[in-house]
Amino acid sequence: MHRITLRQIHIFETVARYQSHTKAAAVIHMTQPAVSMQMKQLEDSLGIKLLERHGKSITLTREAEALRQYTGNIMQSYRALESYVDDLKGHEQGNLVISATTTANHFISRILSRFSRLHPNVNLSLDVTNRKTILTQLEYNEPDQVIMGEPPEGMDLDSEIFMNNPLVIIAHPDHPLRNQKNISLNKISKEKFVSREPGSGTRIAIERHLKKYNVNCNSGLEMTSNESLKQAVAAGFGLGIVSQHTIELELKSNYLCILDVESFPILRHWHLVTRKGKPVSLIASAFRDFLLEECKQLN
Ligand code: PGA
Repeated sequence: MHRITLRQIHIFETVARYQSHTKAAAVIHMTQPAVSMQMKQLEDSLGIKLLERHGKSITLTREAEALRQYTGNIMQSYRALESYVDDLKGHEQGNLVISATTTANHFISRILSRFSRLHPNVNLSLDVTNRKTILTQLEYNEPDQVIMGEPPEGMDLDSEIFMNNPLVIIAHPDHPLRNQKNISLNKISKEKFVSREPGSGTRIAIERHLKKYNVNCNSGLEMTSNESLKQAVAAGFGLGIVSQHTIELELKSNYLCILDVESFPILRHWHLVTRKGKPVSLIASAFRDFLLEECKQLN
């Protein structure tokens, strides 16, 4: 076996997890050809075929699956080493890796920017992504902390509520239902909706809520971000359901309005989530305290 590098092991682990060069490249901020080249060099150095290619998709060979027992341990030890070294340096240096669901981005960037002013030598990394990717990241114990609307069931996690997350129905300010009180769900179900993509935590919560009341919403358009959803609602395409935290500016500027609908807002909470047993670095713990304090004012 020729010499292999930690970087190659990291790339291999990421490709193995996502079963895709393109997704792995996006996660580790490399280009797709660079990932393919590193995988090829790793195969050459090990003298083992790692991937089976089937048209556009890839799967791991049996040998590659067996190797993961070792590469997974190496990456876990490396992360523990990083966090130990960070702790040796105290609060003021080191790395903090945070993942947040798309909707959380509306408040987390502001909070991180304030945290970073207090800890200028800490390297912060924020990955804003959809719930499905976050579940994979949690499974592989990647981020130090995760901010999401709802921790998944059946995973060994520590989770803590730090803020309310009300979901409201939004409309164009000239919408005919604007001034009505306690609009019935039955009436609302006749309206056209702009909805989030499958896999969005917000969408899952809405579907569960409507099912409880035995109503369906008529989705005319699907959007993968709150920003585009709000644009579509403001353009008069239909109604939308979003976290109230995403519409602060639009309400102030009368660009959107909230409708008063029975059983709304849907009451949800934001959670700070980590894998059970993951060592919590001093920086991660300082961030937790900071987040809780900042969000007290937003509740
Ligand atoms: P999302 O996030 O709808 O942007 O995925 C909300 C959540 O985490 O539930």
